[in-house]
Amino acid sequence: MNKIISGIIDKAKTLHKTIVLAEGEEPRTVRAAEIITKNGIADIILLGNKEKLEHIYPDVDLSLCKVVDPLTADIDDFAEEFYQLRKAKGMTPDEAKVQMRKYLNYGAMMTRRGLADGMVAGAINSTGNVLRAGLQIVKTKPGIKTVSSCFIMCFEGTYYKDRDVLIFGDCAVNIDPTAEQLADIAISSVASARSLAGIDDPRVAMLSFSTKGSAKHANVDKVVEATALIKQRAPELAVDGELQLDAAIVPSVAMLKAPGSDVAGKANILIFPDLQSGNIGYKLTQRFSGAVAIGPICQGFAKPVNDLSRGCTSDDIVAVVAMTAVQASQN
Ligand code: ACO
Repeated sequence: MNKIISGIIDKAKTLHKTIVLAEGEEPRTVRAAEIITKNGIADIILLGNKEKLEHIYPDVDLSLCKVVDPLTADIDDFAEEFYQLRKAKGMTPDEAKVQMRKYLNYGAMMTRRGLADGMVAGAINSTGNVLRAGLQIVKTKPGIKTVSSCFIMCFEGTYYKDRDVLIFGDCAVNIDPTAEQLADIAISSVASARSLAGIDDPRVAMLSFSTKGSAKHANVDKVVEATALIKQRAPELAVDGELQLDAAIVPSVAMLKAPGSDVAGKANILIFPDLQSGNIGYKLTQRFSGAVAIGPICQGFAKPVNDLSRGCTSDDIVAVVAMTAVQASQN
């Protein structure tokens, strides 16, 4: 098992957090729930029907899981809260009741209410639907307006020898972030780097196709503005931009292109200017170098909500639940 993931699982075991698995009748999720509870990684709430689970999975021991069925549960309180949250957007009390019978919304409301410390879903739901439940119900943490994501890129055993771990953000959520959103992405990525990847000396590179004014374009201006906003909001943080990728991570290039920078050449957190570059960038790195990409890890929610890949295995779900438990301990 990857060293970072096993460290996260070990940490989760000490935290005793409760995570709701909204796709509680889905086979990989059910098997993950058994592994998680038997190994003391987290307490689990499965959303689903208990009798159905016992009937479909007679071989799986779910005795340590709590099972809650959103289709028969009393949802009046949840629906009232959802109505209050969304009435300005045209939500009606009746529609709120319909929405609270949906597993993703119910799980998100359990998380909002503190009945769970975080939610994990996405084995059978799209990223958009999982995130939307979180965005509408759990919302963002104080001081952060943007939910975003990062990947922990693990390079051990690859051609790239300068660092074992880099953080890439945002590679999965915000399609065309503003300067303010880029600043949120960077600040949230620093928090994820510290809590999940053990990076205690964050150095943030705000990436572009330009280094320090080498090219002029509105896209470059956005990165420069984001860098200034981060410096205002987190003056103690080592951040620099705009930087090209080579100037960010290669010391000899940094000396030529960005002399005197405290980040260039030694960045360990790379913030991409938009989702096209971020998503392509992490996949290029993963495919060409053989780096292990852990994520996407959602960040910026008031309480953690994480999305699974639809191709995930039970072991992947175990890892994401452990990560969610660790994030919950930082909120
Ligand atoms: N942070 C905070 N709030 C947000 C964000 C955000 N990133 N995005 C949307 N919101 C808010 C909206 O303003 C809205 O608020 P309101 O309804 O209270 O006014 C609420 O959240 C819900 O927004 P919607 O409009 O319903 O959601 P939207 O259509 O904007 O979708 C989503 C959000 C799903 C995250 C969208 O940005 C998206 O599809 N992103 C790309 C996901 C993707 O396809 N990723 C690539 C694949 S993943 C991979 O390869 C690893």
